[in-house]
Amino acid sequence: MKQDKTLPPEEIERQYDYMRRVREWNREGLKACVLTFGCQQNEADSEKLAGMAEKMGYTLTETPADADLIVVNTCAVREHAELKALSVTGQFKHLKEKKKSLLIALCGCMVSQEHRKDGIRKSYPYVDLVFGTSRLYAFPELLFDCLLTRRRSFCLDAGDEGNIPEGLPSARKSKSRAWLSIMYGCNNFCTYCVVPYVRGRERSRRREAILSEAKELLETGCREITLLGQNVNSYGKDLYDGYDFADLLREIASLEGDFLVRFMTSHPKDASEKLIDTIAENAKIAKAFHLPLQSGSNAILAAMNRRYTRERYLSLVEYMRKKMPDIALSTDIIVGFPGESEDDFEKTLSLVREVKFDNIYSFLYSKRKGTPAASSPDQIDEKVKGERFQRLLAVQDEIARQKSASLAGRIETILVEGRSKTDDTRLTGRTESNRLVHFIGEDGLIDRKVRVRIDRGEPHALYGTLLDKP
Ligand code: 5AD
Ligand code: SF4
Repeated sequence: MKQDKTLPPEEIERQYDYMRRVREWNREGLKACVLTFGCQQNEADSEKLAGMAEKMGYTLTETPADADLIVVNTCAVREHAELKALSVTGQFKHLKEKKKSLLIALCGCMVSQEHRKDGIRKSYPYVDLVFGTSRLYAFPELLFDCLLTRRRSFCLDAGDEGNIPEGLPSARKSKSRAWLSIMYGCNNFCTYCVVPYVRGRERSRRREAILSEAKELLETGCREITLLGQNVNSYGKDLYDGYDFADLLREIASLEGDFLVRFMTSHPKDASEKLIDTIAENAKIAKAFHLPLQSGSNAILAAMNRRYTRERYLSLVEYMRKKMPDIALSTDIIVGFPGESEDDFEKTLSLVREVKFDNIYSFLYSKRKGTPAASSPDQIDEKVKGERFQRLLAVQDEIARQKSASLAGRIETILVEGRSKTDDTRLTGRTESNRLVHFIGEDGLIDRKVRVRIDRGEPHALYGTLLDKP
């Protein structure tokens, strides 16, 4: 059934009222620290949590030890992400012992799993506030309740179909690059994935709301907008008749200004020729496509419930390259899915060799409670998974090395992000095709577009020389 899931504006107004009440209740000078695990969607959510914290009078800090309120926005996609969030939360116990007034909140995908509820309650007694993904907007109300009653508050939403909160404040980390969520949730139920269980069903934001947010971003100096959703290719299926993701992309790209639009993530079963044509025809849409493959074996793709074949994937790539020979392609691959034979894995390697991706995000299969694949009797031995993972990395490293080396001498326009994390004499930015470039330059160039000549390429980064500021 087509249905707009936008929350009534009064509900958001109520939360603004709670933001004001928290600000009045708290003494001045308090600080909040928001820590984020996981994907870009979580980063976008954290910017909203930080935005609400600011409106509640908190100043933002990146140092948990300085904070009066710590919010841990968790991820559940792989076990490793959960363990990391739990171990970081564990370290806050001693902070709370030193500062009794410290409030600790846990939210996001991990806590949205029903089976986590009791564990967190019992093992983390110093956590004050726990709320799931579909209650993010109610953070001010829940926090106020906690402050007032000094009681722990658990607001979980396992099984909740979800909603769309419009108009929440956002403390964006970058002035020049912004995340823009266009939809939430996922309907695909890939058999390894926990996302549909923790983020609910697919629901699209109204296009008017998206376009007005995009315009506002551009008016305030944003140069790059990344449209976010678990499967952006199915945008609008729950809302408008016929208005789809390609239409939305085209409409955003037609807004005034010098900017680029990116998007993630796509699902190969829904990526259409119309979408590819739209990218090819619009200069403001980045020529970069992240298209998760997961496996090159049809038997494994079927077991994953991906609903496309290796052949369909290859024909999409062929069409993209026919239309845009220079397009940068990246993908996600899971190694060691239950039942993956040596032959299945070889099929993944052969597809990787054939496509020559610009970048691969590879993951060891991780059992997720409640997903069909977790109870498969054909789990792959950890050692075998590890070996296959290394083989995939070696194949991709060689491809990336050759690709990067071939870029030497090119002139690229890049949007400067900040100082390089590994070498603070250099600035770092990304090309339109999403390649990281390091070069020597001054802080004044951060958030601006510059031209750089590529001097040399290493597998995962390019090094260049600043030419000028266009
Ligand atoms: N184990 C390993 N990787 C996973 N992903 C999703 N679920 C799992 C899992 N259970 C990967 C997929 C997806 C990316 C975001 O995370 O490759 O595209
Ligand atoms: Fe998970 Fe599949 Fe949905 Fe992506 S499309 S979020 S992998 S269920």
